[in-house]
Amino acid sequence: MMSSRSWLLMFIIAATLTTICRKVESAYEADKIVKLPGQPEVSFQQYAGYVTVDQTQQRELFYYFVEAATNSSSKPLVLWLNGGPGCSSVGAGAFSEHGPFQPNAAGLLVHNDYSWNKEANMLYLESPAGVGFSYSANTSFYNLVNDSITAKDSLAFLQRWLLKFPEYKTRDLFITGESYAGHYVPQLAQLIVESGSNISLKGIAIGNPLLEFDTDFNGEGSYYWSHSLISDHTYQLVNTMCNFSQLRRESLLPSSSLSDPCEFVATQIKAELPHRNFNDYDVTSDVCLSDGESRFGSQEQHSSLASRFHPVSSLRSKQTGFRKQEAGGKSIDLCVQDETFTYLNRKDVQEAMHAKLVGVISWSFCSFVVNYDNNNLEIPTIGVVGSLAGSGVRALVYSGDQDSVLPFIGTRILVNRLAKEMGLNTTVPYKAWFDFDKQVGGWTQVYGENNKLSFATIRGASHMAPFSSPKRSLALFAAFVAGRPLAA
Ligand SMILES: *[C@@H]1O[C@H](CO)[C@@H](O)[C@H](O)[C@H]1NC(C)=O
Ligand SMILES: *[C@@H]1O[C@H](CO)[C@@H](O)[C@H](O)[C@H]1NC(C)=O
Ligand SMILES: *[C@@H]1O[C@H](CO)[C@@H](O)[C@H](O)[C@H]1NC(C)=O
Ligand SMILES: *[C@@H]1O[C@H](CO)[C@@H](O)[C@H](O)[C@H]1NC(C)=O
Ligand SMILES: *[C@@H]1O[C@H](CO)[C@@H](O)[C@H](O)[C@H]1NC(C)=O
Ligand SMILES: *[C@@H]1O[C@H](CO)[C@@H](O)[C@H](O)[C@H]1NC(C)=O
Repeated sequence: MMSSRSWLLMFIIAATLTTICRKVESAYEADKIVKLPGQPEVSFQQYAGYVTVDQTQQRELFYYFVEAATNSSSKPLVLWLNGGPGCSSVGAGAFSEHGPFQPNAAGLLVHNDYSWNKEANMLYLESPAGVGFSYSANTSFYNLVNDSITAKDSLAFLQRWLLKFPEYKTRDLFITGESYAGHYVPQLAQLIVESGSNISLKGIAIGNPLLEFDTDFNGEGSYYWSHSLISDHTYQLVNTMCNFSQLRRESLLPSSSLSDPCEFVATQIKAELPHRNFNDYDVTSDVCLSDGESRFGSQEQHSSLASRFHPVSSLRSKQTGFRKQEAGGKSIDLCVQDETFTYLNRKDVQEAMHAKLVGVISWSFCSFVVNYDNNNLEIPTIGVVGSLAGSGVRALVYSGDQDSVLPFIGTRILVNRLAKEMGLNTTVPYKAWFDFDKQVGGWTQVYGENNKLSFATIRGASHMAPFSSPKRSLALFAAFVAGRPLAA
């Protein structure tokens, strides 16, 4: 028999627990999205809101979280990061690439049949560099953002997000991203491993990533030549006078004045590349035309690397709904980025997402505020990928094969070289893989047991592979999270 005192004690404990539980629950209940404007009915929950990563500087990062469409509690957690540095994972990753909806010209949300939330609970961190809906009350922070800061902030974000959503604390986690996330993703994963936290990190996947400056950008030169973007003569000049890594390096200097040989070569390249209506992140695709002019004009070419890393611009377009067809897949809205820009700048959308604009007058795909330390572009991260793979975090490095900016050429060399250095044997020799429609999805090679380190291309895909090739990208993603080989 319990005494009345222990009953009282039990009651107090129970009441306290209920309060704690309610507090934690309300912490994420407040972030629940009732419904996004123009959204079709769905059976999964969505959340969006802020996580404080630095109390004193009032730095808050914005996230958008989409539960898996089915069996959410048995599916892994996947964190996605877009690159830039300084671009938005919500606008690019979620609403233009692999989220559950894409805005259309009428301002409605169209269901994405190849959403990655078929396979996982998807967590989109707006940007570790603090852009878009994320913010820092202390704006001088933006003058010295670099890789160490973004990695630390991302870790703080993840740890605090997991306090908000405790049921994911022990869930299998994968960290994914593209482009400059070739820095963000391995660096964050490394911090997690080193922190000795209980986060159950299972793998990383990075698409068209920046991994090693010279190899990646010299691949760009080979890609230009082999895809008929420049002449034999100009390619010869690239190989003898000023190669692409040199050109990129000089373009990054604050003066941005090129040496004579590089100036000469850059002029040749500019004369041969189209000045408009050409997207070097997707060389075989038509473009979304705005005012008869492509948003991916070549004015920016070779002037600033950072601007060339921005896979999307925030300019508005008059033409909308311009479409192309993915082989065997859905029709792609080439203007989805313009429609996303309009959608995310709507007051009702921002309210529904609990988003605020702080220190900027509008939401944009890539930040005009962040002054990222460009020296960090030269930090090699391929070795970090290796140490992660070595410590049991499986690594997939993939390439949309129509991207000329961070093309498969450099990526394949880097992964192959890494495998050699690690003494990993090839477990799946270089060969084609097949998509859901039994068409060639791309090529792949796997090194080490249990898919320790894999390389794969996505045939016909752009720098933003899940945007241009949603069906093939989903096939690759599904195999990756399940830890199974791609269909042979
Ligand atoms: C998903 O849930 C359904 C219904 O509960 C169950 O039959 C099925 O096996 C589950 N699938 C997986 C992959 O867990
Ligand atoms: C603002 O941020 C800068 C750079 O992080 C820091 O040096 C400075 O102390 C901060 N100021 C305040 C008032 O927090
Ligand atoms: C990033 O900035 C911090 C603060 O200024 C500095 O301590 C650190 O060394 C920098 N790291 C890199 C990789 O540039
Ligand atoms: C990790 O989990 C174990 C067992 O649940 C626990 O003892 C340990 O304190 C946890 N470590 C951290 C850093 O949370
Ligand atoms: C690119 O040019 C730089 C500077 O001239 C040189 O050091 C480097 O070896 C070149 N790389 C290749 C792959 O030719
Ligand atoms: C790799 O292959 C070589 C040659 O077949 C073999 O001797 C070696 O043991 C293999 N290494 C591993 C780690 O399996």
